[in-house]
Formats: sequence, C-alpha cells, structure tokens
Amino acid sequence: MSEPETATPEETGLFDKIVNLTKRRGFVFPSAEIYGGFRSTYDYGPVGVLMLRNVKNSWWRSMVQMRTDVVGIDAAILSPPQVWEASGHLANFTDPLVDCRACGARHRIDKLDDPDTCPTCGKSGQFTEPRQFNLMFKTHAGPVENDGAVAYLRPETAQGMFTNFANVLNTSRKRPPFGIAQVGKSFRNEITPQNFVFRTREFEQMELEFFVPPDEAEKWYQYWCAERLQWYIDHGIPADQLRLRAHDADELSHYSSGTSDVEYLFPWGWDELEGIANRGDYDLTQHATHSGEKLDYFDPATNERYTPHVVEPAAGATRTMMAFLMAAYHEEEVRGETRTVLRLHHRIAPYQIAVLPLSKKDTLIPPAQQVLSALQPHFMCDYDETQAIGRRYRRQDELGTPYCVTIDFDSLDDNAVTVRDRDSMDQERVPIADLLDWFRERLV
Ligand code: GAP
Repeated sequence: MSEPETATPEETGLFDKIVNLTKRRGFVFPSAEIYGGFRSTYDYGPVGVLMLRNVKNSWWRSMVQMRTDVVGIDAAILSPPQVWEASGHLANFTDPLVDCRACGARHRIDKLDDPDTCPTCGKSGQFTEPRQFNLMFKTHAGPVENDGAVAYLRPETAQGMFTNFANVLNTSRKRPPFGIAQVGKSFRNEITPQNFVFRTREFEQMELEFFVPPDEAEKWYQYWCAERLQWYIDHGIPADQLRLRAHDADELSHYSSGTSDVEYLFPWGWDELEGIANRGDYDLTQHATHSGEKLDYFDPATNERYTPHVVEPAAGATRTMMAFLMAAYHEEEVRGETRTVLRLHHRIAPYQIAVLPLSKKDTLIPPAQQVLSALQPHFMCDYDETQAIGRRYRRQDELGTPYCVTIDFDSLDDNAVTVRDRDSMDQERVPIADLLDWFRERLV
C-alpha cells in the first residue's frame, strides 16, 4: 500500500483540532462543565486518564525502574510556610501584575508587547503601578484560620525531595551520585493560564532531583540534558520538532549555573516542555539553614563531608501529554475520505489493542470475549461491538490504538483473527494460539 499523504500542522489548524478531538473522544473535558467550566481547570476522561497515566508511567520507567541510581517518593501536597520560606518561593515566586484603570483587566506586565497599552481595551497610560503577585495557593490546615494554620498547596514537587533528602539517604543505601524522583500534582495561581492544558492552575509534574559531588555537577547536567531530549524522541516526537535551548545569563536564577529547556514546536512556536537546571547546593543549604538539620553527605572513601549539588530535570506530565497528542496527529486521504489518526507510541497510546467482533451475531461474541480475556492481563484493551467495522477502525485510529483484532466468521473455522495495523492499515491473519506472543514481540 502506498504511503498516504499527510497534512502539515500549519495546514490543519492543529490546535483547534486537538482540543476538539480530545473533547469528542473523551481525552479531556473542561472541569465542572455543567456549571460552565471552572477557570482553566480540566478533567481527564476515560481515554485521557489512560494516556496521562502512560506518560507518567513511561517517565517513571525510564527514570526509576530502569536505573539503579534513582529512587522514588510521593510527598504531601500540603506543606507549611517554612518550606516555602526556605525555598525562596514566599519571597520570589511572584509575577508583576498591573490593572487597567479603563477596563479593569489585569495583566502580567512582563508578558506584554507594549507595557503601556492594555491589550484588552487598547487604551494607553491606564495601568496601575506593578505589584508582585505570589503564585502559590494559600489555605488553612485545621478549623482555625489564623496565621499558625497557614498551609500552601505545593507549586512544584521538587521541595519534597529536598526535605526528604536525609530520610532517603538514611533508608535507601543510595550515595551520591543518586536521584530522588516524584510524579504528582502541583498548583500555581497563574495569572494567564492559556493554550488548553499547556498552562493551567492545577497540573502534574515529573521531577528528578539528582544529588552529585560538586565537581561532577557539570558532567551530570550535560548528561541529563541529553537523556531528557532523547526521552521525547524515543516516545514518538520527531527530532526536528524538539530542541534544547540553553538559558541566557540574564534568564538564570541566582543559584543556577546553567539551565536548558527542552522545547517543542507547538502551533504557536517553540515553547517549554521541561527545564533541566544545575542548581548547585542552594536547596540543601537553604533547608539545612532554615530547619537546623544536617543535609549533607559524609563520604567514607575520602573522609570528606560535603553538601551535594543538584541537577534537576523538571517536566510537566499534562503539558507533555499535549505535545504527544500534537506530534501524533495526522490527517490523510484514504479512498477519497479523510482519515484522522494519532500515531502515538504504543507505550503512550491509551489502548494498545482493540478487540472487535465483526458483528454482534451471537456466534462471534464468545470467541471475541475469549481473545479479550487472553490479552487483557497483558495489555490495555478496548472492546467494541457497536457500528460497522470500518467506523470502529476509524474510532480506534482517533484514539491512537496501534492494533485492532477482528474476530470474523472465518475465525470459527480457522481459529485465527485479523490484526490491523493503525499506521499502515495492513491486515494480517494471526492464529489465536499465537496472538499473545505476536503482540509481546511488538508491544513489550
Ligand atoms: N522544580 C522546578 C520547576 O518546577 P518549572 O519550569 O517551573 O520548574 C517544570 O516547571 C515543568 O512543569 C515545566 O517545564 C512545565 O512542563 C510544567 N509546568 C510548569 N507550570 C505549569 C503550568 N502552569 N501548567 C502546566 N504545566 C506547567
């Protein structure tokens, strides 16, 4: 079969199509939609939850499971002000806000093309003086709303790794260079949430804090920049849609000796997927000073005590899922019709296999259920017996399911099924007895 013609993102209005498809097929819904939605928050539907989980699991697999020098944790989302005082977030995690006196709109002044003109009403010279707006969500733990009960929803997962540094060191038998990884929710009261799930107030992060001897920090920083770029390529994003951008000196935090972003070519241009930072000993030193606890490492080989430096690859799970969807989206002409297909990596796709009896006839359902039962313990499977087979294939193409298994009337005689490949649409007859191995070869 000849390769179908594929449209470029520019030709297709990719962003709107992704938003539309994710709603229509059950990936992402606006949160509390029956009440009109809620301020840039989103819910992940039946297939979205599978895909998001696959993004997080694939990260965990590469960063924890396949390594001997990284362990994981799952820290609390609520934390006391002391953590954020030590980390610098209480003082510095702010955006400069201005209000337009003419129309009341509120803007981040550092993000405006013209810092004197309101992009909402077009009037100039109407902005109030900028004031610093802290992005952390503040709440109270317990029934009393006084200062002693103040708590914050974490704006990053990273601090959980620093506050648990000594606990992990004492319990895990890891020694620098080693890392602590975490995947979980973070919250930022973003002034301008935008671009669907790209920037939201509630989102998920996948972060690694890698603790190293100070003189090895630069080597590990280079190592993690290369590893993390490759991870996106290995999981299906074409290399020419990715780049590593080193921050200019004036973009660096005061403690960082180097930061690079992995950027993806979104429909609005290059934008950040992940930041890799060489953070020095800033975090452990800050927490040691503020808590009074020792957060260093005694190396018995050299008889030296030192505070490890930290290299931090910090990615967004929800943002990465969006990039995977965009990179996978293709439209092509097939026999005079437009086929929409998500060419997702099999580890990222919501379902790996769809089991489809050719018709709802009673004779086909039991063997289809048997095939499903044989595959389900090993792969995430969809099962669908509604509509014509062609329409079911199209639906699975839009979900990104790599393989469809069709049980037809011949299956009753030859004990074989038709396996359809999502990308080539080629079909192959496979004996039911060989099916599990056939998929293991291709999907594991
Ligand atoms: N600990 C370092 C840290 O949190 P960051 O660059 O602020 O660094 C890391 O965040 C990643 O988290 C970003 O590259 C992005 O993928 C994701 N992220 C940050 N803010 C986000 C938001 N408001 N919505 C969705 N993802 C976000």
